[in-house]
Amino acid sequence: MPLALMLLVAAAAFGQENELKNPHATPADAAAGAKIFRSHCAECHGLGGEGDRGPKLTTGVFFHGSTDADLLRNISDGIPGTAMPGVFFSPDQVWQVVAYVRSLSRTGSTDRPAGDPARGGKLFRDKGCTACHLVRGEGGVQGPDLSVIGSQRSVEHLRQAILNPNAQVLREYWVAKITHENGATYSGFLMNEDTHTVQILDFSRGLRSLSKRDFRKFEMDKASVMPSFTGQLRENEVNDLVAYLWSLQRQRGSQ
Ligand code: HEC
Ligand code: HEC
Repeated sequence: MPLALMLLVAAAAFGQENELKNPHATPADAAAGAKIFRSHCAECHGLGGEGDRGPKLTTGVFFHGSTDADLLRNISDGIPGTAMPGVFFSPDQVWQVVAYVRSLSRTGSTDRPAGDPARGGKLFRDKGCTACHLVRGEGGVQGPDLSVIGSQRSVEHLRQAILNPNAQVLREYWVAKITHENGATYSGFLMNEDTHTVQILDFSRGLRSLSKRDFRKFEMDKASVMPSFTGQLRENEVNDLVAYLWSLQRQRGSQ
């Protein structure tokens, strides 16, 4: 039987799906993909795909689809409406990146935290985390929504976020500190700024639009408003909290 026909028969035997498979999946392809990954993806997904600004890519399960075809599409086109950009590589090169991304979940680095998620969930309330963080619709809004943080961050990142919040503070969580001509002071997250005005989400007054003309002082504080919990929590409590956060995984069909 000619090869093409054999492939067709094999594809038919595979059922309706007739699924697109990565034609560049050798270890050499994965190595070539790793190079591209380091220069174009690691800044957001971490050098080993452990996650950082972008989600971790090491679990083998991808929210936006886990087939080879899904990965090819999401990596070449990006994911509209999110920070995930498209890339301008040939399809062959994108397949090599797909091969590398797949290899990340085969290394057996099941990054599972040691603690107890149920105890962690209780600590999350008892230690005041809910004052600032939303989890599935409950809690405060001074910090990021943590409803699916387990799908977005590595275990190590979660631990550092608790013990050392100042290590990496996204621009949107820098705090604007403003002294008005009339002596009033404002502090909160900067929502918007143009030449003449700023909008801030003041921590005690809510959303405010202020005219720069009236400012006596205007500075940005890059420290986190989240207190460090180093010394406030025992090692096993940190583990429990991390296990709880890690358990907050995105489910398919939800945000
Ligand atoms: C500027 C940051 C950034 C860069 C650069 C970036 N990504 Fe992403 N990526 C993201 C974000 C953010 C998401 C999550 C989008 C969402 O679901 O909200 C994402 C999602 C993904 C997904 C889908 C994950 C899932 O669970 O479905 C894959 C796969 C992926 N990226 C691979 C890559 C690869 C490969 C590269 C390099 C070619 C890359 N990304 C470059 C930020 C980035
Ligand atoms: C006073 C408000 C406040 C409290 C209390 C607070 N946080 Fe935060 N948290 C923040 C802010 C603001 C950020 C974003 C800036 C940063 O990265 O530090 C943040 C960031 C985080 C992150 C990183 C999120 C990401 O996207 O990477 C985690 C995880 C986290 N907090 C967990 C906790 C836990 C667990 C507690 C309780 C032990 C807690 N927070 C208490 C305000 C708070």
